[in-house]
Amino acid sequence: MTKENLGLPVGTTLDRFIKRKQDDFPYATGELSQLLRDIALAGKIINREITRCGLINLAGAFGATNVQGEEQQKLDIVANIRFIRALRNGGEVCAIISEEEEGIIDLDNPNGKYVVAMDPLDGSSNIDVNVSIGTIFSIYRRKSPTGTPITDADVLQRGVEQVAAGYLLYGTSSILVYTTGYGVNGFTYESSMGEFFLSHQSIKSPEDGKIFSVNEGSYNSFDAGVKEYIEYCKASEFSGRYIGSLVADFHRNLMKGGIYMYPATASAPNGKLRLIYECNALAFIAEQAGGRATNGQQRIMELAPGKLHQRTPLFIGSRKMVEQVGAILNQHELQRSAVDTL
Ligand code: AHG
Ligand code: MN
Ligand code: MN
Repeated sequence: MTKENLGLPVGTTLDRFIKRKQDDFPYATGELSQLLRDIALAGKIINREITRCGLINLAGAFGATNVQGEEQQKLDIVANIRFIRALRNGGEVCAIISEEEEGIIDLDNPNGKYVVAMDPLDGSSNIDVNVSIGTIFSIYRRKSPTGTPITDADVLQRGVEQVAAGYLLYGTSSILVYTTGYGVNGFTYESSMGEFFLSHQSIKSPEDGKIFSVNEGSYNSFDAGVKEYIEYCKASEFSGRYIGSLVADFHRNLMKGGIYMYPATASAPNGKLRLIYECNALAFIAEQAGGRATNGQQRIMELAPGKLHQRTPLFIGSRKMVEQVGAILNQHELQRSAVDTL
């Protein structure tokens, strides 16, 4: 039996699954396992807040903007606090990078081995309208020795250095999907029992698909290559599906086959999405499921982040679709450089 396919029956609890995985690694100390459990716990709490937010005055704007100048919703703040608290209490993490905080969150736990990057609530414009939203997380092993202060090198790691990553999707049913680099598994939340149960074992994404997800409102400011690919999708009568929550759009395409694109636009010349706590985690999941993730030219997970809140264009999903849009973009790039040298 491979580490990827544990042969565990559907309905296995997340705790049992994590334990079983840990047993495959004789030298594992259990710290990563504990960290995954802490994330699942925070996810349960956030799921609870989301499902009742219309009743307890948690919907709506908080009245402040985050470091990216985006309006923060009350649940953005709540999710951020809940995750930080769960990771602090868990004791495995030394530092957190969050979409909602400008700097590194130093947990004052120099013996913590791990760094977590997170988008505590993704798709926050959808909170008030009962549309699926999510949480995205990446886990890195710190570079500096334990017992010493956090360094930039600890938090500015490339996606290829992730030891685990995943997302929680709070939707028609809530699901935790994660990878530790040995395939992708999904756990559906059973709220009456307060447990995540294995429901999607060794997820493999279709290598091709017929769904394209992009905010076409920005079409006029897309590069010619992106426009050409969108026209190809339309000519092929693919389905356009875009909900405005990256996690939800990504999850649907992962399961059904499709591509999600957030290219550069006039108002977001480097794209809108953040490399460290949005794109890298989903890229790790996509690749582990057989898909791809690029910025148009380069593999997302190989990009070296220069700053915490760095943005990148994102093309992610089924392998053939991401490769095809990449080929079109390269063609346009070649034509542009040929014109430049005239
Ligand atoms: P967040 O709520 O964490 O700021 O992320 C929102 C992101 C992503 O979830 C979504 O796909 C995208 O922004 C939507 O942006 P547009 O409204 O520009 O399409
Ligand atoms: Mn987001
Ligand atoms: Mn967010």
